[in-house]
Amino acid sequence: MTKTEPLRTVAWVDGSVRLIDQTVLPARLVFLDYTYWQDVAEAIRSMVVRGAPAIGCTAALGLALGAQSLEDADRAEFLRRLSEIADVLRATRPTAVNLCWAVDRLMLLAEHTVGGAAEIRRALLAQALKMLEEDIETNRRMGRFGAELLPNEGTVLTHCNAGALATVGYGTALGVIRAAVEAGKRIHVLADETRPRLQGMKLTAWELAQDGIPVTIIADCMAASLMRQGGIDCVVVGADRISANGDTANKIGTYSVAVAARYHGIPFYVAAPFSTIDFSLANGDGIPIEHREDVEMTHIDGIRIAPDGVPVLNPSFDVTPAELVTAFITERGVLHPPFTAHIAE
Ligand code: MRU
Repeated sequence: MTKTEPLRTVAWVDGSVRLIDQTVLPARLVFLDYTYWQDVAEAIRSMVVRGAPAIGCTAALGLALGAQSLEDADRAEFLRRLSEIADVLRATRPTAVNLCWAVDRLMLLAEHTVGGAAEIRRALLAQALKMLEEDIETNRRMGRFGAELLPNEGTVLTHCNAGALATVGYGTALGVIRAAVEAGKRIHVLADETRPRLQGMKLTAWELAQDGIPVTIIADCMAASLMRQGGIDCVVVGADRISANGDTANKIGTYSVAVAARYHGIPFYVAAPFSTIDFSLANGDGIPIEHREDVEMTHIDGIRIAPDGVPVLNPSFDVTPAELVTAFITERGVLHPPFTAHIAE
């Protein structure tokens, strides 16, 4: 890797899946190489890699790796074993639809590939690698569309991490901010720390600081008050699943930000690729919400901060109703209300 080449969150290197270990950032930048598909599945589950597009691309490479690990068999048997691996990968995290989207896309390709195991293995790896490149291109396109919505000079609030670390590179919400900065806009970013896992403080602040983009960390509870004081010009967040009417699942806390933004008349933008739209859901009621382990709430970096024995709730995502979204920034352009009609188009 040359010095000027941006880091890739997910890559294929010498026959293994290489991931940035996001559980140890920002203290250390560590790359982990995976040669077994089961370990790739565990990396998604344990959030070594996280963020909707990043886990989709990782699962795609995991399936390609799984295909390579399967012994030669007749075509039907090979596809049957491959589909067992696909099921395990799909089940690693429930909310981000990009994960199933990526695995389904590869399974469809496997079923349509003429030939036996060797041809299927080759086709899957080629397609997974293509998806990695597409992800970066999609983010850059979204960035160009979204940059126009940001002020020439101002403060943008974001929640969680929808950056290079949540994608293969460049990012969705942070891609919009990067593109605005590249276009000469003077943007200051406020990063919600994003309890309980602190993706905003640990990841968003780290990657923006690496790029020299001014960023200030705030506790989640500060956003509304800053809006009231006129300190926030707009909000840009990513998404894990968007239903056909525009209801948007994203990191827990996004809904509160959207409510506060509406109250204060501040634009609330969602930047997400079309692979995040779940056309099978008419609205957000059916979006599966992941509930993660209590330890994420009760401990910070291994140290218990909650009293023993008191129950906690830990839903990892919430759903922001479409009516609170000012516009969706996608790789095909900016979508304004009415969303049901514009998304369908
Ligand atoms: O639990 P995480 O860290 O995977 O949640 C990530 C988010 O909520 C992101 O905002 C979302 O995936 C969009 S990433 C481009």
